[in-house]
Amino acid sequence: MKAPAHEATTAQLGGAFPFMASRPLLRHGVLVGRDLHGGAFVHDPFALYGAGVVTNPNLLVLGQIGRGKSALVKTYCYRHAAFGRRIVVLDPKGEYGALAEALGAQPIALRPAGTVRLNPLEVATGDDAAGRRLALLSSLATTCLERPLAPVEHGGLEAALDEATRAARGVPTVKEVVAALLEPSQAAARTLGTGRRALAEETRSLALGLRRLVHGELRGMFDDATSPGLRLDATALVVDLSALFRSSALPALVACTIAALEPIWKVASRRGQQSLLVVDEAWAVLGDLGVARFLQSSWKLARANGVANIAVVHRVSDLAAAGERGSVAAQVAEGLLADSETVVCFAQAPAEVGAAERALGLGRREAGSLARLPRGTALWRVGARSHLVEHRLSPLERSLVDTDAALRGAQR
Ligand SMILES: Nc1ncnc2c1ncn2[C@@H]1O[C@H](COP(=O)(O)OP(=O)(O)OP(=O)(O)O)[C@@H](O)[C@H]1O
Ligand SMILES: [Mg+2]
Repeated sequence: MKAPAHEATTAQLGGAFPFMASRPLLRHGVLVGRDLHGGAFVHDPFALYGAGVVTNPNLLVLGQIGRGKSALVKTYCYRHAAFGRRIVVLDPKGEYGALAEALGAQPIALRPAGTVRLNPLEVATGDDAAGRRLALLSSLATTCLERPLAPVEHGGLEAALDEATRAARGVPTVKEVVAALLEPSQAAARTLGTGRRALAEETRSLALGLRRLVHGELRGMFDDATSPGLRLDATALVVDLSALFRSSALPALVACTIAALEPIWKVASRRGQQSLLVVDEAWAVLGDLGVARFLQSSWKLARANGVANIAVVHRVSDLAAAGERGSVAAQVAEGLLADSETVVCFAQAPAEVGAAERALGLGRREAGSLARLPRGTALWRVGARSHLVEHRLSPLERSLVDTDAALRGAQR
């Protein structure tokens, strides 16, 4: 006996079999690979935002070690560059060199006492450059002190920044602000209704905390003007942070680098150019309140600046683990999830599936598949829709993404 054929539109089938017969997300965009429920899968955060499918262009990429997160991000950037998008990568493991070269750029390596300097206070000039600098400095200070600033420290910082800006007659450096904090002027003390010595004492730990940015492991990176000749406006910018990947200075390094790159977005958006900002291994810095705040402000500014931010973490609990439940750090990090309307979830450990199911609003069956996804296949949740996608690589791209080479070398 043969069952009679049943005909229905794709819209009807989509309703009957959610996630199994969905319409293609977009007609035009960057090809990612194969939608396992049929057809090709293309994605474009800006086109999706324009079409109202998502309310922000940011992406969060989750997955266990070695499942293909970075490989996806590399080819995603490579393919977007072909459409004129500017690519900026914070590369904590030093694995994006081949991508940089393929895009005609040299990675910039930030190393202790190295040859490249960035001034995080060189924010885009504009009406509120002073306000932006103060916000950057107070986030950097939060990172260095590992606590929020006291009101007197905030006041002292503002006065020191004022002083240093006046003395520099332009863009001050962190070193100059630290000097002004260590020896506050009479005028600064008067502004805050106190004496010079009392102010110096109250802001001493702040000064010593910020001093970390210009001494110790971070020396020579952020203590002077941005190195002349550094092309921050290049089409591709890969900042290699691997010298400090396992160091406790990594959060401060990431925060300073993001701050120093801020002028890029202004210039690009003035030219009408869209950009991708990648923070790979973001899990390693999200526990830091200052960095989590930095990322959050970058995520929130995404639409205004024409930037799609891409953060890579291992699991949802990397976000919750940023601080104790309900703490400011945890709320800030969880806010990143809310501000990332495209979530790409590679395989998760069985113990993590429940958290992913709740956080991403997945159905039971979808969540159940997460523990079994093979390398290179991920569940893409884009706004309210989900797609199971196999990331496909071209032969040329394989050389951009091979992070197993060292492993194979070690086994030989
Ligand atoms: N879609 C794919 N097709 C074929 N090979 C892939 C694919 N994705 C990743 N790989 C290979 O798998 C290896 C690991 O990938 P990748 O470095 O992207 O993992 P990861 O999830 O970023 O890991 P980690 O958490 O350690 O950073 C790489 O050598 C890469 O070449
Ligand atoms: Mg990786």
